[in-house]
Amino acid sequence: MNSAVRTIKIDREVSSGDFRSAMRHLTGGVSVITVGQGEDINGMTVTSVSSLSVDPPTLIVSVNRNASSWPLLERHGFFGVSILTSDQLDVAERFSGKDGLKGAARFAGARWFTRMTGVPLLAGALAAIDCEVEDIVERHSHAIVIGRVLDMELSSRSAALAYWQGQYVSIDQNEDAIKLAEVSVPARAKSDIAIPKRRS
Ligand SMILES: Cc1cc2nc3c(=O)[nH]c(=O)nc-3n(C[C@H](O)[C@H](O)[C@H](O)COP(=O)(O)O)c2cc1C
Repeated sequence: MNSAVRTIKIDREVSSGDFRSAMRHLTGGVSVITVGQGEDINGMTVTSVSSLSVDPPTLIVSVNRNASSWPLLERHGFFGVSILTSDQLDVAERFSGKDGLKGAARFAGARWFTRMTGVPLLAGALAAIDCEVEDIVERHSHAIVIGRVLDMELSSRSAALAYWQGQYVSIDQNEDAIKLAEVSVPARAKSDIAIPKRRS
């Protein structure tokens, strides 16, 4: 590995609260990371997935090493990324651990399938991506996981689920993107996701 860890001299500490406030402005696409096989499965909601390189196809995701999915991810060396559509808000909530469900119980109520690696992938997701762990960089509380894309399935749906300002937001390709702020909904209320009417 050719990464260099630098000791950073800090004159004035930025508080974690201030940093969190800054990050609330960053709009993140919501995905579910899935790990394991059979009954030994787990998963978590993330916004930290992004593309690393197209050739070869690789992506990165930042995972808290205290998350219950972490040991399975490390042990199996494979993970799935299901990029959620806006009507999969209930899945996002279940996999964020909000209602206390753990492991296989989080998968109930949605349809799952497998591709090459055997990890569960969410049916109807905008994209369901099968990855093999290529590298892991452990830093602070988290690990940056580099995943080599082995297989994937794309859906023809277009409305994405994003997270912005502490709320889930629906982004619909067919709607005016400038109206993004108006579709912001409280994290709890799936039925409240409002797709604004296009102005004529
Ligand atoms: C919108 C949203 C985005 C999240 N993004 C991440 C992320 O990128 N990385 C991460 O480690 N945890 C992220 N989390 C937190 C995990 O979903 C949560 O800690 C985990 O599912 C619960 O941990 P547990 O499996 O130990 O119960 C996010 C949560 C939400 C609601």
